[in-house]
Amino acid sequence: MPTRILAVDDSTVNLTLVSQTLTQAGYQVFTAKSGPEALKRVDEVKPELVILDVMMPEMDGYEVCRQLRQKPATARLPVMMLTAQDTLAEKIKGYEAGADEYVIKPFDPVELQMRIKVLLKRLGAEEPKPDTTTVKAKTIAVFSLRGGVGVSTLAANLAVGLTQLWASPAVLVDLVFTAGQVALMLNLTPRITWSDLAQRPLEEIDADLINQVLLRHPSTVRILAAPRRAEQSELLTPDRVSNILTLLSASYHYLVLDLPHDFSDTTLAGLDRADDIIIVLAPELASVMAASSALEVLQSLGYPKTKIRLALNYTFERHALAREAIESALRQPMNILIPFASDVVIPAINNGNPAVLDKPNSEIGALFEDLAFFTSKEEHRNQRPATPSQAWLRAFNRFQQRQKK
Ligand SMILES: Nc1ncnc2c1ncn2[C@@H]1O[C@H](COP(=O)(O)OP(=O)(O)O)[C@@H](O)[C@H]1O
Ligand SMILES: [Mg+2]
Repeated sequence: MPTRILAVDDSTVNLTLVSQTLTQAGYQVFTAKSGPEALKRVDEVKPELVILDVMMPEMDGYEVCRQLRQKPATARLPVMMLTAQDTLAEKIKGYEAGADEYVIKPFDPVELQMRIKVLLKRLGAEEPKPDTTTVKAKTIAVFSLRGGVGVSTLAANLAVGLTQLWASPAVLVDLVFTAGQVALMLNLTPRITWSDLAQRPLEEIDADLINQVLLRHPSTVRILAAPRRAEQSELLTPDRVSNILTLLSASYHYLVLDLPHDFSDTTLAGLDRADDIIIVLAPELASVMAASSALEVLQSLGYPKTKIRLALNYTFERHALAREAIESALRQPMNILIPFASDVVIPAINNGNPAVLDKPNSEIGALFEDLAFFTSKEEHRNQRPATPSQAWLRAFNRFQQRQKK
């Protein structure tokens, strides 16, 4: 049974806006256009939450709230105030009248949905959801100690590639808290980000809430975007990051982590959870050195070698170091070779579509698709899907072609 919410506002426009937002979130919405009507409707429909506009001609929201609080039947009914005034005095008035929560107009729909969810949860009105968790995501971390080598490019292409292959959204997690740009690369406004998860008590964060914080790309890939401003990441502790990744991993098949170019505690929280770690390097000296120290640190931290892959990405066209020289310096073969392809990669980013989506038949698009295939879960790789996706068919055909050779 959907949760019943009564929305009260004297303005038809606002009332419609609130109703639509809530209906979209799956609530059953009732409306009232004045204070007295609201009090009557509360008795009739017995809502589980009331959203009250403050400024109404006959009886203002504070008065409605006070009257609700005086009656035993509604004394504990969750009440959220919607107001245009963002002053401390207004806020205090709202709380004195007995409001539980205070939201400023104009509101962001997703933010409103989230606040409602949290409020219902906090006040215990919402039934706990049965745990139907069956998924355990495979987590792929993409990493380099040097920037500009294509970490974000690879992460975005992998996440979109996995989404397309298995026709089920993967989550691209931007862990570059101080300057993450994955959302922008995908042409999405980072309206909601990690910072929306930073300030809530951990016990209020559940899979549903996290879902509402994910941005959606037209490819259906989900993005957990980096905070818009660096200082917003201060509250994102490694524990919190790890908890949130755990929750995500119960709802999605694949998590792809775009990691920052450092070994900070939150980077380690991501690496710790990764099933595969792809270290990206470009064929130039500084990048090879960075890969070498990354490998050394990972080894000293006890990460098994079998988890680690090296991806040599030709981000520039001329004067590349020879692959053999790089392999002998690192004493390891390159597992993945990504060709120079600015003609595909750059226009793709400008469209907000990674190459794997924009040009799946280009050399680099196909390579990203194959790479997504080979980083997939074993149970996915080993079985032909009942209705294979276009991406799966392409990858499978290429695989067969290679076998023939
Ligand atoms: N194979 C490639 N060929 C050409 N340009 C590339 C390639 N891979 C990445 N780039 C470009 O290199 C730049 C840095 O890539 P990005 O993914 O942002 O790196 P990082 O996340 O490591 O800082 C971007 O402009 C990207 O388009
Ligand atoms: Mg990056």
